[in-house]
Amino acid sequence: MTTTTWTQQHILSLADFSPAEYDTVLQTAASFREVLSRRTKKVPALQGVVVANLFFEPSTRTRSSFELAAKRLSADTLNFAPGTSSLTKGETILDTAKTYLAMGANIMVIRHQEAGVPSAIAHEMDRLGTGASILNAGDGQHQHPSQALLDLFTICSLLDTDNPRIELLKGKKVAIVGDILHSRVARSNIYSLTAAGADVHLAAPPTLLPKLFADTVESKQPGKLSLHWEIEPALANADFVMTLRLQKERMTQHLLPSLREYHQLYGITRDRLQLCQPDVKILHPGPVNRGVEISSDLMDDPQLSLIGKQVTSGVAIRMALLYLIGSGKT
Ligand code: CP
Repeated sequence: MTTTTWTQQHILSLADFSPAEYDTVLQTAASFREVLSRRTKKVPALQGVVVANLFFEPSTRTRSSFELAAKRLSADTLNFAPGTSSLTKGETILDTAKTYLAMGANIMVIRHQEAGVPSAIAHEMDRLGTGASILNAGDGQHQHPSQALLDLFTICSLLDTDNPRIELLKGKKVAIVGDILHSRVARSNIYSLTAAGADVHLAAPPTLLPKLFADTVESKQPGKLSLHWEIEPALANADFVMTLRLQKERMTQHLLPSLREYHQLYGITRDRLQLCQPDVKILHPGPVNRGVEISSDLMDDPQLSLIGKQVTSGVAIRMALLYLIGSGKT
């Protein structure tokens, strides 16, 4: 296990992550991946720590993998479903968080459809001097740090299984294609991939990739960020292609003529992958609209698709994050 001192109380965004912090997370996750390969996949690292999963927005991967990660670390877990909670009786989100705090929650993993909710709860926890940590599990169109970290871990592990580290991505070309405008995954990945020195190429129709988008992601990182309204320049010689879900639930205007036309112009297909490096790999954070942002057969192709590996990486990465912020809390 890594001995690097971890100083972040909360994990809310990757905007302020340092290269050393990325490497600490990757190395810690690699140690936990080894634990997960054993017959007994459990360690006592967070015995006595209480992890509350407060998901105000639906989730399959993030919620379940945080829960499994906490259990693998021997923490006690609390789950919350908004539809059957006292939110329906008018309780506020802050009072919900304080209720879990009063039951002894040391770490709260928070997903919310509005940007800023995890930060607001973290601010309140700090103001009250509680010592509780907040982990952002996806807030609106803002950030999804654990997703970008598991993407980074998946890619770096492919490049060096035993020693995943960010320098492996230096000079690699990563295309991110799809609904960038609504994507917290894209925003977090832009920080992590450019911090690692990768050249990131975004491609989407203008309605999903406004010209000013780059200004909203302040990037003083070594890797370059480029924007394209056509897919071909983004895919040309790409080492990795990350395709994003069209977030129909966040589209309040008619931003696309049709899903069929979107697939024709921006869908990832075998033909389009001819433009990329011969050993290109595809990522998708899930959930997937099969046949829209990616052709269905490509998604299931183990030679090309890292989608299953991303989900597997999620458990080790979330164990690492819980361990790094939680190990001093018992
Ligand atoms: N990638 C992701 O956040 O998936 P879920 O919404 O299923 O958690």
